Amino acid sequence: MVKRTQTSRPAEKLFADNQRDMFEKSYEEQLKEDKNRPVECLGMTFKNDEKRREYFMEKLREKLKDPEFRKIEGFPVGEDEDILALSDPPYYTACPNPFLEDYIFYYGKPFNPEEPYNRKPFAVDVSEGKTNPIYKAHAYHTKVPHLAIIPSILHYTKPGEIVLDGFCGSGMTGVAAQCCGSSTQDYRHKVEADFEKRGLEKPQWGMRRVILNDLSPAASFIAANYNLPFDVREFEKAGKRILKDVEQEFGWMHETLHTDGKTKGRIEYTVWSEVFSCPNCAGEVVFLDEALDKETKRVKQAFVCPHCGAMLNKSNLVRTFESQVDQATGSAWSRVKLRPSLISYVANGRRHEKQPDAFDLRILESISKMQLPLDVPTNRFPIENMYHGSRIEPKGFTHIHHFFLPRATHALGALWNKASDYPDRRVRQILMFLLESHLVNLSIQNRFRPEVSFPYNPLNGVYYIPSLISEASPFTAYMNKIKRIESAFNNHKPLPAFSCIETVSASHLQLLPNSIDYIFTDPPFGENIYYADLNFLTESWHRVLTNAIPEAIVDKFKKKGLPEYQHLMQRCFKEYYRVLKPGRWMTVVFHNSRNAVWNAIQEAMQTAGFVVADVRTLDKQQGSYRQVTSTAVKQDLVISSYKPNGGLENRFKLTAGTEEGVWDFVRTHLKQLPIFVSKNGQAEVIAERQNYLLFDRMVAFHVQRGVTVPLSAAEFYAGLVQRFSERDGMHFLPEQVAEYDKKRMTVREVMQLQLFVSDEASAIQWLKQQLIKKPQTFQELHPQFLKEIGGWQKYEKPLELSEILGENFLRYDGKGEVPSQIHSYLSTNFKELRNLPKDNEGLRAKGKDRWYVPDPNKASDLEKLRERALMREFEEYRESKQKRLKVFRLEAVRAGFKKAWHERDYATIIAVACKIPENVLQEDQKLLMWYDQAMTRIGGE
Ligand SMILES: C[S@@+](CC[C@H](N)C(=O)[O-])C[C@H]1O[C@@H](n2cnc3c(N)ncnc32)[C@H](O)[C@@H]1O
Repeated sequence: MVKRTQTSRPAEKLFADNQRDMFEKSYEEQLKEDKNRPVECLGMTFKNDEKRREYFMEKLREKLKDPEFRKIEGFPVGEDEDILALSDPPYYTACPNPFLEDYIFYYGKPFNPEEPYNRKPFAVDVSEGKTNPIYKAHAYHTKVPHLAIIPSILHYTKPGEIVLDGFCGSGMTGVAAQCCGSSTQDYRHKVEADFEKRGLEKPQWGMRRVILNDLSPAASFIAANYNLPFDVREFEKAGKRILKDVEQEFGWMHETLHTDGKTKGRIEYTVWSEVFSCPNCAGEVVFLDEALDKETKRVKQAFVCPHCGAMLNKSNLVRTFESQVDQATGSAWSRVKLRPSLISYVANGRRHEKQPDAFDLRILESISKMQLPLDVPTNRFPIENMYHGSRIEPKGFTHIHHFFLPRATHALGALWNKASDYPDRRVRQILMFLLESHLVNLSIQNRFRPEVSFPYNPLNGVYYIPSLISEASPFTAYMNKIKRIESAFNNHKPLPAFSCIETVSASHLQLLPNSIDYIFTDPPFGENIYYADLNFLTESWHRVLTNAIPEAIVDKFKKKGLPEYQHLMQRCFKEYYRVLKPGRWMTVVFHNSRNAVWNAIQEAMQTAGFVVADVRTLDKQQGSYRQVTSTAVKQDLVISSYKPNGGLENRFKLTAGTEEGVWDFVRTHLKQLPIFVSKNGQAEVIAERQNYLLFDRMVAFHVQRGVTVPLSAAEFYAGLVQRFSERDGMHFLPEQVAEYDKKRMTVREVMQLQLFVSDEASAIQWLKQQLIKKPQTFQELHPQFLKEIGGWQKYEKPLELSEILGENFLRYDGKGEVPSQIHSYLSTNFKELRNLPKDNEGLRAKGKDRWYVPDPNKASDLEKLRERALMREFEEYRESKQKRLKVFRLEAVRAGFKKAWHERDYATIIAVACKIPENVLQEDQKLLMWYDQAMTRIGGE
């Protein structure tokens, strides 16, 4: 082995050498050679790859003995030897990866503030590629297909740069990073055409390196197998071999007699039916036998008791239990009664069905007497702390081995045993990847659904044991899976040293600060999926379990509510912020969830220091991206945010709390926003460039840094128009406006953002949109307004149109000069009013009583008056003796919180927050921001 020196950092050279598409030899030939020739790893040279592994394995073994190492947040639950057995260091460790810093040192490029980097936000279609063989090679509870990620990586990074996903799940971000260098010409043309259409620079093809992490060892293991190279041929041979061996040993368990009584058939699946008792006569009811309509192949809603003729349905049946000795514990075990009811088998090359006969029952009887195989895990589920515990325990399924019927137990035990004995570690791991990919399908969770032909139908994302279980053939399942994996990896060829994977909480990544070039991440969203619980089944086979303490989740069984979730996410985003290079981007994919979770995520991101630049959703019908401007989240979202480049942060230290600081932020933020977006010949209003969103971002930037906001909204808007050119309601930097104007000429019109009026704030925005287009009288506005307010929130105090107008807009009383806005509207739209002076009689008469948007200077006076009114209301809430306010003015609460925060009166914020319904607080991003800040200041995190 050669010692590493600082100068031996040939990242670029190694990268070029490794470009798979430049290889002349076949991938397998290359891997075989790699096995027996010197390899370089983290600046050291080893005689061959196995020596590399041995060396790092030893280092990891030593490290595991260090108690401090084991204390890292999210360290999985498992013995040293089990963690080592899963790992392939330095590239994959089933625990925090102690080699990651070296990996970054060796392959990363140190942050260079001088290096120019400028990208605009980029949206992705998270549904693309779900039928791709790579995507389908191994399931995971939620997956973002790699094809959806590749364009993002191409947009934000250059070949060889480092991408991070700290909630990597099955590791699709890694697959995407590698595919940037190995995708086909056809695919490249397609992406390039799409980039061109979007007006983006041509992507630079070539692999990116990737750091993947997940709290769950089951997830990181899948990710490692997707991203580390292995010999596909050897895997295929080994897989088929062990299948054959096990089939030879246990094939008799999967045989049945054809109806001719002679021919042996091979069982494809056996349906086990739950046995109930009739509520009327207490007779035994085998569910499948009575409920299955053999003609339609559907389960009947209602059916007749075979004993007494009473009408039965799923809800009036009585559950029955049977007892046996639990082979693992030696004690009595009672679980719902199950009977084999139907066998589907192949004989003479054709598929048949039959009811189990005496031969079948004899075989099953003898299997049930056999000893439980040693490799099958027998640990208990942490039922009390599991969301779905109440679904499994009442039926008697409390331990892992309960989830497998005896026949499946023997096949799986033997297969697992043979796979774990396979001499080559990398092939051994991919064999385990193969085996665990079907664990759920071969368990009692596999539903028999006579109406569908697909053989594996467990309910996704839950533990659910159906009344009709399909016990599928492991041999067919695995044989098909070998083919599937083979076909997937024939196209996707991971390279050595391009991925480095660890298992720890994303709040404690083993990475250096400012070392990552781009983050693509798909964190868990609140309470949709209980990853640690669900992965428990697979992890028990690996004997390394998720440490669920830092799991980012809302789960009452783990005593985690939304605040705990937000707090954890905040710590993870802080960590992301620490490791990302300044000025670089993070894409967060948000799956449809509660609005409150969406706000928690945004708040967590912003508190960590990220600035959100774009939020989009994919309109599946139109196939285009829509900006998200309201808090109502109905679809999956893609959030683009950036870590401000060090320049702004440094300057901000000196100018914080001054006007200069505000405009510096706005200037830097505008630089990051898209300049022009069009579709179907129409330009889009870029929401983030509108004055009120710029104001919100600016306020958030200050508040999250604990700095007073020096400008009121009106002062901010006034300053904005003075400093930045305005076009179509958006603001631009001087160097951006020319580009906008040029591109604007290529489209017919600008598509307005659709606004939904649901409260006072959106009503003001809506009125602004109407009045800017056309100053109108109260009578003209009123009927339209009434149509818009159908969705007014029930907790929001209803306001009269006259009140909103009076507090936010101006009315021309017909005296003095006609205001410019009305003048320009009238002279453009009425021939007879063209080119008239502002004090013309006719013009004044026509303009009288029209409401208009105040110019920025006048807006300031109006704002002061409005604030006074809002504060009066807020005072009432504060003084109110009511425990909970049912109806209130959200704008008043916002104004009150803002003022209290400036006055450091955190107690008032918290006191009033306690009076408003929790869901309102959690669903309002602004309130949540002040409230969180107040809690932090008061030390109540
Ligand atoms: C939405 S999934 C990611 C799925 C992934 N995009 C894929 O394609 O497979 C979120 C992941 O976050 C993990 N997770 C939860 N809390 C975590 C934490 N504190 N640190 C790291 N990972 C965590 C879960 O185990 C889960 O695998």
